[in-house]
Amino acid sequence: MEMTTNHSTLVIDEAYEVLDRSIMMHNDRPIGTVAALHSTQLAADNYLDCFVRDFVPSALVFIADGKPEIVRNFLETVLTLRTRERMVAGHEVQPGVMPASFRVVKQDDGTENIQADFGERAIGRVAPVDSMMWWIILLYIYETSTGDHELSKQPVFQDTMEQILHLCLKDSFEVSPALLVPDACSMIDRRMGIYGHPIEIQALFYGVLRIIHSLLEVKDEQTRSLINTAITREKALLNYVRIFYWLDLDRLNEIHRYATEEFGVDSINVLNIYPESIPDWVPDWLPDEGGYLVGNVGASRMDFRYFALGNFLSIMFGLTSDDQANRIMKLYELRWNNLVGAMPVKICYPAMEGLEWQVRTGSDPKNVPWSYQNGGNWPTLLWTFVAAALKTGRGDLAERAYNIAINRLSSDDWPEYYDGRAGKLIGRRSNFKQVWSATSLILANKLLEKPDLLNLFPR
Ligand code: GLC
Repeated sequence: MEMTTNHSTLVIDEAYEVLDRSIMMHNDRPIGTVAALHSTQLAADNYLDCFVRDFVPSALVFIADGKPEIVRNFLETVLTLRTRERMVAGHEVQPGVMPASFRVVKQDDGTENIQADFGERAIGRVAPVDSMMWWIILLYIYETSTGDHELSKQPVFQDTMEQILHLCLKDSFEVSPALLVPDACSMIDRRMGIYGHPIEIQALFYGVLRIIHSLLEVKDEQTRSLINTAITREKALLNYVRIFYWLDLDRLNEIHRYATEEFGVDSINVLNIYPESIPDWVPDWLPDEGGYLVGNVGASRMDFRYFALGNFLSIMFGLTSDDQANRIMKLYELRWNNLVGAMPVKICYPAMEGLEWQVRTGSDPKNVPWSYQNGGNWPTLLWTFVAAALKTGRGDLAERAYNIAINRLSSDDWPEYYDGRAGKLIGRRSNFKQVWSATSLILANKLLEKPDLLNLFPR
């Protein structure tokens, strides 16, 4: 690796300082890490919370360093928060749902309690769907890496997993195996036109379905049938995503000449995608050898935008075929300036502009074109990029991205995100000392040095 120099070691040490200072304590036990270190310029008050998704790279660093206690404490803490009865705006929060974030609140008498946010405090009142999925995936990683299989066997863990699975597999208004969710329910937690079946949620859902039978014990007919449904759904989801989300030049040609308004069970264009909905930028941008999973699929809807995290997780968890994984990485190689540029990695491409930005984001000034979640570059995505690249045999791309990040992140003071088409500017409202920007770099470094770590993930 080019950067195993003194400089790299120094930067990684600095990243560890950020991580050490981020640890959240409760009754003298470490239970998580805050999203950003305290500063006068914090973008919002809840960055001092521990977010479930932000804790994932922290947890993986702790595990890789042989310090899994904090991860165990975290898994237990989040689970306790879930079991408290909660009503939000007249709705009972389903027992499987886990909070987006939590914080420790000190009482006047010196005692501490934990306050969770299920979306009732968050900006825009967004509720997370990804939290419960990351929680199960983290539990699996904790167990496989430590060999401590007793944790998930506890009845309260078993009940929780059953509730989560039940919630995700419950029939509602769906006719496809993909999971239907509202906008802003995952890493992109503001309105960005990703309601429906966003790829990030499908990848996480697939990750859960893939491992649940190794965690959930068959204790009665109900769990047996739940697990069987999960196995059937896992296969259906895999086929569905590989066919309907996949886009390459052949598929684009097919869609371009699709017949529409077909009625009946034999139709080919089953989702009734109108060729007219293919945006102008797609045919020019898509290289012959590349391809990707599109952002969202539904009735007469194909969201052609490229979303990085959903694609990386799909590769890591084996939701893509090997050929698809290779072609996604090829897309990075051939469109590097668009998808990586000055800071790995761009969250989605391209940005929404003009009327589309107004309608789909509600004119969100934080998500203006090429900023924040609307086409900004996020250092936290580096570790999943590196994992996906290594899994696909593209260590060259992993190193290339790592070398860019290590040269800038610490001197820029660990920004949360970067702005601009090429990601050259520190995000206008970006936090500094953003913890998952630092942990992502540490993790990327570890993955490059010890690719065996890839075996920790559901695959
Ligand atoms: C932003 C991100 C979200 C993250 C949170 C805390 O809201 O969009 O994914 O969890 O900040 O860092």
